[in-house]
Amino acid sequence: MPSQSPIGVFDSGLGGLTVLKEMVRKLPDHDFIYLGDNARAPYGPRDFETVYQFTLQAVQWLFDQGCPLVILACNTASAKSLRTIQQKNLPLIDPSKRVLGVIRPTTEVIGDYTETNHIGILGTEGTVDSGSYVIEIQKSFPDVIVYQQACPAWVELVESGEHLTPKAVEPVKACLDALLQQCEGIDTILLGCTHYPLLMPVIQQLVHPAIQVIAQGEIVAESLVHYLQRHLEMAGRLSCSGTIRFYTTGDVEKFGHQAGIFWGEEVKASRASL
Ligand code: DGL
Repeated sequence: MPSQSPIGVFDSGLGGLTVLKEMVRKLPDHDFIYLGDNARAPYGPRDFETVYQFTLQAVQWLFDQGCPLVILACNTASAKSLRTIQQKNLPLIDPSKRVLGVIRPTTEVIGDYTETNHIGILGTEGTVDSGSYVIEIQKSFPDVIVYQQACPAWVELVESGEHLTPKAVEPVKACLDALLQQCEGIDTILLGCTHYPLLMPVIQQLVHPAIQVIAQGEIVAESLVHYLQRHLEMAGRLSCSGTIRFYTTGDVEKFGHQAGIFWGEEVKASRASL
C-alpha cells in the first residue's frame, strides 16, 4: 500500500507543470505526484475515444499510487473524458475518489477579466472542436462572446523544447493573428491549453499590451484551495509532507531536463508504464 495520499496531477506532457507550479505555491505542505504521458503527446489531434482511454489509464495509475484526488491539468482530457470518467468509471473504480478538470474552474471566472465582453480562447484542436469553452462560458457569462482558435503546432514546440527559440515566432504569430482577426474587440485571450503558458514570453512580444493574456494555472489552483475548504473529508485524506514526485511515460532524462528549466530547479523524473 502506498504510504502517502498525494494529489495526482495529470497532463499529456509538460503542460500540466504550469498548473502544478501554482498548486504547489498555494498548497506547499501537500504531497503531489505529477504524471506526464509524454510518450503519447500530443493529445490534441487524437479522437475522443483515444483521449478518453489514455486519460482513464492515467487516472487509474494515479489512483494506484494512492491519490484520493486527481486533477486533469489538461484541457483536452478535461473536454473529452472528464464527464465520462466522473459519471461512468468512478462509481465502479472507487466512489470515494475524485477527478477534477481545468475547464469549469476557468470558465467560472474568465468573464470577470473582460471589459469588452469579447474573449479569445486558444486551445488544441480537440478542445476547440469540443466547444466546451463556448458552452461553459455561456452558462456563467451569457453576455460574453467567445472566439476560438486552434494552435496545432504549439504543443509540439513545447514538447520538443523549441518553444523559446526563434522557430516558435512564426507559428505563434500565425495563430494569434487568426484569433484577433475574428474580432477587433477582443481584450482578453485565455490560454486554454496548459502547454501554452510555456510560450508566454513569445506570446507577450507579439500581442498588443492592451490585450491581457491569461494563463489558467493560478485560477485552477485557487479553485482547488476552495474545493478543499468545502470538502473537508477530502482535505483530511490528503497527506501533507511537502513532497513532489514526477513521472513520465517518456524519456526520463529529457523530461527532467525540460521540466527543470521551467521549474527553476533540477527535476528528477521516474518512468511510469500505463
Ligand atoms: N496540455 C494539454 C491541454 O491543456 C494538451 C496538449 C496536447 O495536445 O497533448 O489541452
